[in-house]
Amino acid sequence: MHAQLWCLCLAVVSVIADDVLVDDCILTGGDKKSSAEQALLRTLAPLQNRKFETSSKEGEDAYVYTFVMCGRVNSSKSTNEGLVQSKVGSSETSVIGRINDTHILSGTDWIMLFYKSGDKYDGHCDKEPRKAMVMISCNKNTLGDGFTIISEERNKSRDCFYLFEMDSSLACPPEESHLSVGSILLIVFAVLLAVYIIGGFIYQRFVVGAKGIEQFPNITFWQEFGNLVADGCDFVCRSRPRSSETAYRGVGDDQLGEEPEERDDHLLPM
Ligand SMILES: *[C@@H]1O[C@H](CO)[C@@H](O)[C@H](O)[C@H]1NC(C)=O
Ligand SMILES: *[C@@H]1O[C@H](CO)[C@@H](O)[C@H](O)[C@H]1NC(C)=O
Ligand SMILES: *[C@@H]1O[C@H](CO)[C@@H](O)[C@H](O)[C@H]1NC(C)=O
Repeated sequence: MHAQLWCLCLAVVSVIADDVLVDDCILTGGDKKSSAEQALLRTLAPLQNRKFETSSKEGEDAYVYTFVMCGRVNSSKSTNEGLVQSKVGSSETSVIGRINDTHILSGTDWIMLFYKSGDKYDGHCDKEPRKAMVMISCNKNTLGDGFTIISEERNKSRDCFYLFEMDSSLACPPEESHLSVGSILLIVFAVLLAVYIIGGFIYQRFVVGAKGIEQFPNITFWQEFGNLVADGCDFVCRSRPRSSETAYRGVGDDQLGEEPEERDDHLLPM
């Protein structure tokens, strides 16, 4: 009962947490929110409030563009700026897009985020509000990086836009779990080993009529093999000859008498 309540509580908390993101990035389309768009915003949740910057030059002027993923560029302002252009060396800024007018769509390995309702153009584009488009491409190696401006289209009489791109693993398609060649080989080997041992056991027990340890298939071969491996290891790994162990034996009164005899034994064959 307690566990169930706890689960319910967690579920409610996580739903509320999701809604925070959805409410920060307010989707266009009024109160009828698209569930596909909300799901996409939830996909981007790990990047929420992350700030990205890029700069561009236009003749003499340099601009810095600041983009915040579903968050405000200046969190102490309540005017919903999500992407802001500021002129370097001046206090001039233009809001390119606001998070309270968000539109989002996706394909196999990309997500496109729109912030609309920016500041109005002064002379271009029929003085419509500015609009930002951020193309997020799949890149497994980063959560979010490589934010750059591609182009500013304002030579049309309407539907102008600022186009940006960035990389994120969140835009990647969900991974299908394939087994690597190595793990397939390992599984095949394990199966063959099991067949060998079980089949061998059955053969030894019921056809040959072996008992006890003798039921193990090719037991003499494996024992020989084990001895060979042990010898090989002894030869390769041991740093000093085995016989020298005797030199370190504690010298007790009772051993003193035996020693000469042992030495004689060694000398005999020579
Ligand atoms: C953020 O907005 C506040 C209030 O408008 C302003 O005083 C402050 O300078 C702004 N901060 C930045 C970094 O622009
Ligand atoms: C978004 O917020 C700005 C500033 O608060 C406001 O002027 C504008 O009307 C809002 N846009 C929408 C679509 O709600
Ligand atoms: C808009 O026109 C200007 C010159 O008129 C040109 O330099 C610029 O590249 C054009 N921009 C686009 C996005 O086509």
